[in-house]
Amino acid sequence: MPTTLPLNQRGIPASRIALGCMGIGGEWNREPVTAAELKEGQAAVEAALAAGINMFDHADIYTRGKAETIFGTILKDHPGLRDKIILQSKCGIKLMEPGDLSNTFDFSKEHILSSVDGTLARLGTPYLDILLLHRPDPLMDPEEVGEALRLLKAAGKVRHFGVSNMSAAQIRLLQAHCDEPFIVNQLHMSLARLDWIEAVIGINREPWREISFPEGTIEHCRLENIQIQAFGPLAQGLFTGRSLEGQPERVANTAEMIRRLAEEKGVSREAILLSWLMTHPAGIQPVIGTVNPQRIAACMEVEGLELSRKEWYDLFVTARGRFI
Ligand SMILES: NC(=O)c1ccc[n+]([C@@H]2O[C@H](COP(=O)([O-])OP(=O)(O)OC[C@H]3O[C@@H](n4cnc5c(N)ncnc54)[C@H](OP(=O)(O)O)[C@@H]3O)[C@@H](O)[C@H]2O)c1
Repeated sequence: MPTTLPLNQRGIPASRIALGCMGIGGEWNREPVTAAELKEGQAAVEAALAAGINMFDHADIYTRGKAETIFGTILKDHPGLRDKIILQSKCGIKLMEPGDLSNTFDFSKEHILSSVDGTLARLGTPYLDILLLHRPDPLMDPEEVGEALRLLKAAGKVRHFGVSNMSAAQIRLLQAHCDEPFIVNQLHMSLARLDWIEAVIGINREPWREISFPEGTIEHCRLENIQIQAFGPLAQGLFTGRSLEGQPERVANTAEMIRRLAEEKGVSREAILLSWLMTHPAGIQPVIGTVNPQRIAACMEVEGLELSRKEWYDLFVTARGRFI
């Protein structure tokens, strides 16, 4: 398992796993943060820190700002913590407001700058370590994005930049107009989300046409030393204890294989699931979204775990439900 992340190679001492903060703050509403939501967030962050996690993933939209607000309270209560951790947030998605037909995307300079100001105010920090552009905005003007990022860097508000849910081509287009390198691409990846592997093995085969994952994205990230982060890495518990009622046979078979491997190796099921991602040589950093302290600790049992080539392929073939 690669232990050195691309982020580490750039001198950013990020832990092998990051805590995703989307689950902090309860419902996605405009109600004030409750004492119970604060307590749950505190317990999750404390469990992560105790387990050796030093990187935290946010977005301006998570629980409509409550995740960042709660994290800001935690930072205030722990003087000195801010400089020991790596804080990442995202901008570019606009949640639906009354009268809107849908969520939309916004990479305008005005939106990027005001979003970051909101994030910094909620977190109560003068800077973000990393800002990700959350999802591609079809109306984006790369020069305008470049200008916004330049201003954020010059003001000391953001140290590094990255993207999320972007193809190699989209990254290249933006990079051509941005002075700072994009150092992260956060993508949906797990044994329940296999298109990034299908895109590799499908070349020059019939089903290749059905694959939606943009060809060359993983390769581009590896060539450019861009940290690939996996969101949804626990597949929301699909293979590690959630009810299997109504699930296809391949899901039940994968859950059983994970249970057996966990028993054989004396680790948690979460550790087996994460090790499947972390065995990949790109140095993928899972962004785990659990707020449950026991589950956070269970995830960290992945440390030092090695899957053999056979175990990796057996899990892949079982999860996809058909032979290669
Ligand atoms: N860039 C993007 O577009 C994007 C999109 C989505 C998410 N993200 C980031 O990625 C992080 C992780 O994503 P995620 O939360 O979707 O994925 P995840 O880590 O796969 O799933 C976490 C969720 O699954 C539940 N869960 C895990 N194991 C379970 C089990 N055995 N039984 C029942 N429930 C279980 C957790 O509940 P408990 O909390 O109760 O454990 C939590 O709600 C987010 O926090 C966010 O930071 C990014």
